[in-house]
Amino acid sequence: MNTRPPILIAPSLLNADFGQLAREIAAVEAAGAEWLHLDIMDGHFVPNLSFGVPVVSCIDECTDLFLDTHLMIADPAKFAPAFVEAGADGITFHIEATREPRELCRQLRDLGVQVGVALNPSTPAEAVLDILPLVDLVLVMTVWPGFGGQSLIADCLKKVETLAAQMPATQRIQVDGGVNIDTAPVAVAAGADTLVAGSALFSGGDPAAAFSDLVQRAAAARVLQERPA
Ligand code: DX5
Ligand code: ZN
Repeated sequence: MNTRPPILIAPSLLNADFGQLAREIAAVEAAGAEWLHLDIMDGHFVPNLSFGVPVVSCIDECTDLFLDTHLMIADPAKFAPAFVEAGADGITFHIEATREPRELCRQLRDLGVQVGVALNPSTPAEAVLDILPLVDLVLVMTVWPGFGGQSLIADCLKKVETLAAQMPATQRIQVDGGVNIDTAPVAVAAGADTLVAGSALFSGGDPAAAFSDLVQRAAAARVLQERPA
């Protein structure tokens, strides 16, 4: 496995209290979060709706955190510019949602944001290998996209291992879905460096404490991983 970038925990707001978003964001920011993961769902690419451009704009108004924007939408090329205008710092599209991934990567690069590509659980790692030089991040879905609070599908971590063997430390491997204090170490051991966590942080009442616990667990797993055999 190549050396991986420093570990980041990216809180997903999907399970946050949407009536108190500024407070929820402030809590994880005070606990040391650097990224926020924004789950955008259109009811077509996934069987659920979440929030759109105006909410991203409001989030951008209340924080300087990196807005890691995960587009679970059927037409990412059409809507990406509006999300960038609203404040997205990184845009991740699904490889299953475009026939022209190279063109979309170039479009996002021209918009000045970090470029990510996501894989559904049934999509093999090979589907993105030829566009790896065009992206900053590969997101490996470890649940079927659409809903928070599901259990991590361990089989998906084999793709993380495959990607970690090929991707340099300048590119991130993100896992998204079912990350908690028990599964985070397993994901890190597989080679993930960027862990999205939603319900593990926002369903227990103390997002700051949950964030700190998760950081510690992930960091401990990284130390084990780096120890010479
Ligand atoms: C699922 C989303 C995830 C999800 C994470 O479609 O992409 O970001 O909200 O939530 P948890 O951590 O609860 O699985
Ligand atoms: Zn997500």
